[in-house]
Order: sequence, then C-alpha cells, then structure tokens
Amino acid sequence: MGTNVLVTGSNGQLGLTIKELYELNDEGLNFTFVSKEELDISNNQETTKIFTQNQFDYCINCAAYTNVEQAEVDVDEAFKVNAEGVQVLAHVCQLANVVLIHISTDYVFDGEAQQPYLESDVTKPINQYGKSKLKGEHYIQEIMERYFILRTSWLYSQYGKNFLKTIISRIDKKENLKVVNSQTGTPTSAAFLAHIIFQIIKTSFNYYGVYHATPNGKTTWYAFAKEIAKHFKDYDSHKIQPVDDYPSRATRPKYSVLNNTKLKTLNLAIPNWESELSKTILSLK
Ligand SMILES: NC(=O)c1ccc[n+]([C@@H]2O[C@H](COP(=O)([O-])OP(=O)(O)OC[C@H]3O[C@@H](n4cnc5c(N)ncnc54)[C@H](OP(=O)(O)O)[C@@H]3O)[C@@H](O)[C@H]2O)c1
Repeated sequence: MGTNVLVTGSNGQLGLTIKELYELNDEGLNFTFVSKEELDISNNQETTKIFTQNQFDYCINCAAYTNVEQAEVDVDEAFKVNAEGVQVLAHVCQLANVVLIHISTDYVFDGEAQQPYLESDVTKPINQYGKSKLKGEHYIQEIMERYFILRTSWLYSQYGKNFLKTIISRIDKKENLKVVNSQTGTPTSAAFLAHIIFQIIKTSFNYYGVYHATPNGKTTWYAFAKEIAKHFKDYDSHKIQPVDDYPSRATRPKYSVLNNTKLKTLNLAIPNWESELSKTILSLK
C-alpha cells in the first residue's frame, strides 16, 4: 500500500535530488524512477505501457529538453520532449487517473515586467525553449483536471551541469570571471523544489493548477556568482566582474522574478534564495 509515484527523467538534476530525498524520507511512499533510457516520454506506446502495468497515484515529470542555447537550433527536438512528450504524459495520466506534477519555467515570460510575475500574468516566451515549455503547459491544461504546473527558475544542485557547479569549478581554479549582470531572477535549489513536491504528495494537497515555485528574493547572475564566492574564503571575489551581455543564440528575459505568494498555500516555510544556496554548498563541501 502507500502512495505510488512515478518519476520520469530521473537522471537529471531534479530527478536525482528527488531520489536523494526519497531515500531519506520514504515513509508511506513508493517511488519508481525511470531515466530517459528506460522511458522516453514522447513515445506513446512505452508511456502507455508503464501506466497500464502499474497503478500510480502521481507522476513527477522531471524529463525535459533543458539546453536553452541548443534549443534555438534543435527546435524540433525541444518541442518533441517539452511539448509533445508532455502531451503524451498528460493523456496517459488523465486516462489512468494519475495526478501529474510537472515542472515549467520562468522563461514562459518575456521579461519586460517591473514586478514579480503572477501565475495569471500573460505569457510570451522569447526563445524556443520557453515556447516549447509553454506549449507543454497548454497541453496539460487542455487535457487534464488534476495537475500541478510548478514554474521554477535558475535551478541548481550538486548534480548535473548548472551555474553553481560551473562557478565553483572556476573558483577552484582561481580564475577571473566575467558574469552577466543584466538579467534578474531567483536562483532555486533543486532540494527546495523537491521539498515542495514532497509536501504536495504527503499532504494530498489538491488545489490543482499553476504555481510559482521559487524561494524568496531576487538577484542577477553576477551577484549570484559573488554570493557563491563568499563561501570560498581563499578566492579573491574581486576576480568576478560584471558584464552587460555575452554572446548567445537564445534571447533571455531581462527580468523573470516569479511572485511566489500562491505557493504559501502549501503551508511550507519559504526561505530566501541565499540560505538555500548555503545549504547546497555545505552539502558539497
Ligand atoms: N535547469 C534550470 O535552470 C531550469 C530552470 C527552470 C525550469 N527548469 C525545469 O525544471 C525541470 C528539471 O530540470 P533539470 O535541471 O533537472 O533538467 P536536466 O538536468 O536536464 O534533466 C532532464 C532529464 O530529462 C531527460 N530527458 C530528456 N528528454 C527526455 C525524454 N524524451 N524522455 C525522458 N527523459 C528525457 C534528460 O536526459 P538527457 O540529459 O540524457 O537528455 C535528463 O536526464 C525541467 O522541466 C526544466 O525545464 C529548469
């Protein structure tokens, strides 16, 4: 018995973070983890099979095409995973009466706002990754009744490739760094997002819909790098310099801070992004 949960894309940074939390905290929970090699969410047959052979209560979709730069070139592949793959999952979950917990992004917005985006604000993605993720959101909303779309931003963890790990490896090599200072958003630890997902499942939270799932506060990539450097006392943080722009195929929103007030209905303490960063760095050391 217990609550049966399928985690797709389980070898990505969020999938691995959920696995770590599950191993510490599995009371009453029965998780099945499937990597891309074990389940391609865009394959209708494979996806239908796993849902008919098992009785899941929830599906946490951690599968995604997440390379924002490459998505400008591999447009079809990005849409195949982030839109059509999500469409397949939504159909199958709806048929099997499974609650879908899906992760989306701040990049569904154009970044022209002056204040944090609400869930209900108009979406207008400005790059292919954002467009593909928004299409995925629309499919879920058209097809399903019981779903959570958790929009997060600037995700980092001890796993995979992310900004935190890149900066730390360059700090370790005592390198000079130029970091863009013209984009404002909220770094989110995968551990924080995993806790939110567990809270939804463990409390059988049933106010379905779209939620902005980020910690409190905001920063720029440059100030984020400086904050990381504070944890490495033998690195001279003056070596980190701000730049306005960097060569990039994908246009990124200038301002993508998400208003997380609605998330508070989950009754979970919401930390500042800096304290979440400290926790993740401590777990690395
Ligand atoms: N990273 C960020 O800064 C950020 C910001 C906002 C929102 N998000 C969202 O947060 C979620 C988790 O992101 P993440 O950083 O954990 O991503 P990630 O580390 O790239 O993990 C995604 C996983 O999905 C797998 N995958 C790709 N195509 C698949 C398919 N067709 N079927 C099944 N699995 C597939 C990937 O495998 P391969 O690596 O082998 O392709 C990878 O293991 C995503 O929905 C992402 O869009 C991320």
